[in-house]
Amino acid sequence: MLILIIKAMNNKKFDPAGQIQALKQFGEFGGVNPSITDSATFTFMSAKTMQDTFLGEMEGCYLYGRHWSPSNRFLSEALTAMEGTDNAWVTGSGMGAITTVFLQLCNAGDHIVSSITTYGGTYAFLKNYLPKFNIDVTFVDITDLEAVRKAIRPNTKLVYTESMTNPLLQISDLPGLSKITKKHNIPLVVDNTFTPMIFSPIQLGADIVVYSMTKFINGKNDTLAGAICASNQFIQDISNVNNGTAMLIGPVLDSLRSSSILKNLHTLHIRMKQHSKNAMYLAERFKEIGLKYNYPGMPSHPQHELMKSMMNEEFGFGGMIAIDMETVERAAILMESMQLKNVGYHAVSLGYFKTLFSNSGKSTSSEVPEDVQHEMGMSPGLVRFSVGLDNDIEATYQLIKSSLDELKLL
Ligand SMILES: Cc1ncc(COP(=O)(O)O)c(C=O)c1O
Repeated sequence: MLILIIKAMNNKKFDPAGQIQALKQFGEFGGVNPSITDSATFTFMSAKTMQDTFLGEMEGCYLYGRHWSPSNRFLSEALTAMEGTDNAWVTGSGMGAITTVFLQLCNAGDHIVSSITTYGGTYAFLKNYLPKFNIDVTFVDITDLEAVRKAIRPNTKLVYTESMTNPLLQISDLPGLSKITKKHNIPLVVDNTFTPMIFSPIQLGADIVVYSMTKFINGKNDTLAGAICASNQFIQDISNVNNGTAMLIGPVLDSLRSSSILKNLHTLHIRMKQHSKNAMYLAERFKEIGLKYNYPGMPSHPQHELMKSMMNEEFGFGGMIAIDMETVERAAILMESMQLKNVGYHAVSLGYFKTLFSNSGKSTSSEVPEDVQHEMGMSPGLVRFSVGLDNDIEATYQLIKSSLDELKLL
């Protein structure tokens, strides 16, 4: 197997797409796509090599699929290139990646500071699951750096946020947060699921980046997957055979899926541009018709300027947009009508080639109690769109508009 990685020329600006383009990864028979690992375990010609590999003293040998596999190594190398980290590890779901990081960094009695607006599953893990281990979490408004600063205690082990939060689409000030975490010598962990390529969190001061690759990175909604991009030391720690969280809990990604995600990663830059272009088009039309909407690409968004200062502009402001229908009932009739007209699918998740929409409070954020939803400013009628790759977004907009008109929702 020949693995050759040529890092893109060190331009002034970080170039995630160029970093992926510069990869040369091909199979042992010259296949332009690396061969798929079809083995859960690996042979050793000498007993000594096996012993040394278990002791972590032998490079380049594969032991067992829960530890590493060549397919997962190829995908990890591509993610490493995209983020500009030293290393990466791929998992069987986004939650597999996120929970591995929390459990690796915290011991019983430790403390986490987290954005209150996060994906509902993350919120539920922090709020309902970690108390089992006596790990305490303070939830903060992540746009309030003073609140973050004040929440840090001597036993705080990390600050956690999403670069664009789910579902409020707030933008985290990563350089500002990083200044705080560096001062306290703790890692800033960032979920970049909504904004791959748009933000390069490591370049903005984050220490660990996690992804649900189920979303934009894979883009096909045919599998679940996650990733942790971090330092060599951290990846070695999580994969340590004696005490590594990933190795011992085992949220491993299957090689077949891994190889298919790797191929999809190579079109991510084109897809992100189209998702962003379409979402911006809808935001402009929503503004024109006076619909209450939220899109970080519009100057009215409270962190629009911050986003501009952090983003890799060519990929746009992302494919996520939210509208406020005020009540659950109004959201429901609109979503049902839009699905009938084939605007897209009434489904959770995001980053798919078709538009997906759901009422966050009753779906992906339903784990967050209603009073907390209210406190964080989430309307019960919030409809979150993951805008698809539609070639004719104007036609899609006309369908949305006709639903709004027919149902007298404007
Ligand atoms: C921002 C974000 N992070 C993490 C996850 C969890 O990922 P997965 O469903 O792949 O476990 C999701 C959605 O499900 C998400 O929206």
